[in-house]
Amino acid sequence: MSELASRAWRLDVTDDIAALTLDVPSQSANTLSATVLDELEQLLIQLEAEPLRGLMILSAKRAGFIAGADIREFEHIDDAAHATELAQRGQRVFARLAGLPFPSVAVVHGYCLGGGLELALACTYRVARDDGSTRLGLPEVRLGINPGFGGTVRLPPLVGVLPALDMMLSGRTVAARAARRIGLVDDAVPERHLRRAAIQLLRRRAARRRAPWLQRLLATAPLRPMVVKLLTRKLAAKANPDHYPAPYRILDLWARRANEDEEAASLGELLVSRTSRNLVHIFLLGERAKRAARTEPHQIEYVHVIGAGVMGADIALWAAHRGFRVSLQDQRPEILARAMKRAHDFYTKKHKDPRAVQETMDRLMPDLAGNGLRRADLVIEAIVEKLEPKRSLLGELERKVRPGTLIATNTSSIRIEDIASALSDPTRFVGLHFFNPVPKMQLVEIVRGAQSGETALARARAFTLALDRFPLDVKSSPGFLVNRILMPYLIEAVVMVEEGISPAHIDESARAFGMPMGPVELADTVGLDICLSVAEELAGPLNTPVPEALRRKVTDGKLGKKSGEGFYRWDVKGGSHGSSGAASSEAPVTERLVLRLLNEAVACLREGVVTHPDAVDLGMVYGTGFAPYLGGPMRYVAGLGETGVAHSLYRLAQEYGTRFSPDPGWSQPELFRPEVPT
Ligand code: NAI
Repeated sequence: MSELASRAWRLDVTDDIAALTLDVPSQSANTLSATVLDELEQLLIQLEAEPLRGLMILSAKRAGFIAGADIREFEHIDDAAHATELAQRGQRVFARLAGLPFPSVAVVHGYCLGGGLELALACTYRVARDDGSTRLGLPEVRLGINPGFGGTVRLPPLVGVLPALDMMLSGRTVAARAARRIGLVDDAVPERHLRRAAIQLLRRRAARRRAPWLQRLLATAPLRPMVVKLLTRKLAAKANPDHYPAPYRILDLWARRANEDEEAASLGELLVSRTSRNLVHIFLLGERAKRAARTEPHQIEYVHVIGAGVMGADIALWAAHRGFRVSLQDQRPEILARAMKRAHDFYTKKHKDPRAVQETMDRLMPDLAGNGLRRADLVIEAIVEKLEPKRSLLGELERKVRPGTLIATNTSSIRIEDIASALSDPTRFVGLHFFNPVPKMQLVEIVRGAQSGETALARARAFTLALDRFPLDVKSSPGFLVNRILMPYLIEAVVMVEEGISPAHIDESARAFGMPMGPVELADTVGLDICLSVAEELAGPLNTPVPEALRRKVTDGKLGKKSGEGFYRWDVKGGSHGSSGAASSEAPVTERLVLRLLNEAVACLREGVVTHPDAVDLGMVYGTGFAPYLGGPMRYVAGLGETGVAHSLYRLAQEYGTRFSPDPGWSQPELFRPEVPT
């Protein structure tokens, strides 16, 4: 066989079995760039002519098989026809793979996503390493597109209509065993048997997998429209088609029995759409935040959390879940017992396997006496939100911890500097601001106090990354970034309730804009007492008076969901409220809510709470769920043009008062287009 000029692929032939191993240079994970696909095509052309028994496709990366297309390439594609052409090129390469005169097998470990899974689907067989890190899926929908390398055509006949559509519509990934159960892989075996299992499939020329008959029945002409109707209804409850067209397209492709050309054409259109552009923007911001956090090691194995309330208990359980050894301290044993039970329930739900639950529980220790302090590499303080108790606790614990121990506070509103002055070495002190509920919220604000040292900040970022969370650098200032931007939006909602607008209508308007939950429901969920204390904390520095309605509710003991009544009346068991909203979104309601939020975002940029508009987008999308299809507040402003937004604020200020006065930052173009990259 002639010498091959591939940089990404290595070819080995043993006896009559060829092995193509992908190892994309200078990347930790394999992605399918145009070059990688071209090289594969050349290799397949050469192999076609060889008298082989079979071909294995493997990855040399520890991280996994193939993580998908190279998403960074998406940003440079402006033209639907060009995107369609790229998809067709991929399809052509995979068709060649599927058409080889001998069988092929994908040998999968770790991530096998998007284009990576589509490559595996084009093989005759698939085997997967059976361990926790193997994940197979088609997550394209999360970037606002449909699979484009033949996935929509090949997946349903293999695993069946319902599992296939479930994977493609949700973007969910499946583990090795689940993949074997649905027939996505032919075998799931431990590492040491992986190659042998693959070679056996090739030698035996085993029959190809097909979906079970019931699933095939669902794809027949009489049943297909019923399946589509059912799934459309389910989708409508989750995603607004105007905001997120991709899942509807995927369903439509299946409904129409679309071929690969139609799949590619649909991909082309979606890829250049506003939604996909914005979802890719958000995705890349997250990736960049992770990359930046990887520059330094956290050197943390042991974490000691003080305060086992709402936040501390969850921070501790999540850290143990992510592999850290954790001790959790509080003042009374019953508080610790409650936290341990909560952790046990959480792990049981997560793992199902009792051994895995036990292993995780073994990493989490209740620690009434605070013995863990001496061993801790990181101490996280999450006690009551009061300055003096925090200061005295930290001053005392500093004497017990080792010199290299990183110390963090989860405070949401106290100045880091005010706490730091209780320490003799404040350079090792930072804010690690988690969001509630910790296991769900993907953001952690890394708060830089005036004294925080660079090493401490870098370790805090790296630790956050190890918790599988996005770290966001913020300056120590009232409300930091996310709560500060959210607060005027919540307050405006309460002002509207005071004016007599129904909470349900306000919430419906916000959801129609693209918020995951309306502001009034959010306030009831967080707890009106907590909202009031944050509002009071920010009232002075942000010059926003606290609405009387909020104070009154708290005085009356109406604290929201937890007390059974807030702005809504809550059915305590079901966790839902009775009132329903008007379906339409009236412009003034949405405009008032959103513009206050945007105005505060610009104030944060002007004051340097964060240094780049991208950081606002990252924080608000991952910290609050702000309409991802809009790409975050600043991306939204960029689409509207800042002059237009400032003008609308000016108009609202005349009608509703000075709280709408445009922030001086609106007339500083450098804030919106800074020269420094993120
Ligand atoms: P919480 O009131 O639920 O829990 C505080 C816990 O700390 C209690 O269990 C209490 O017994 C314990 N504690 C108090 N003093 C202690 C001491 N000296 N030693 C040991 N344990 C002590 O409070 P929550 O909501 O968990 O808040 C904790 C911190 O997290 C606060 O600083 C808060 O501002 C912040 N935070 C709260 C969020 C929320 O949504 N609840 C969100 C983000 C941050």
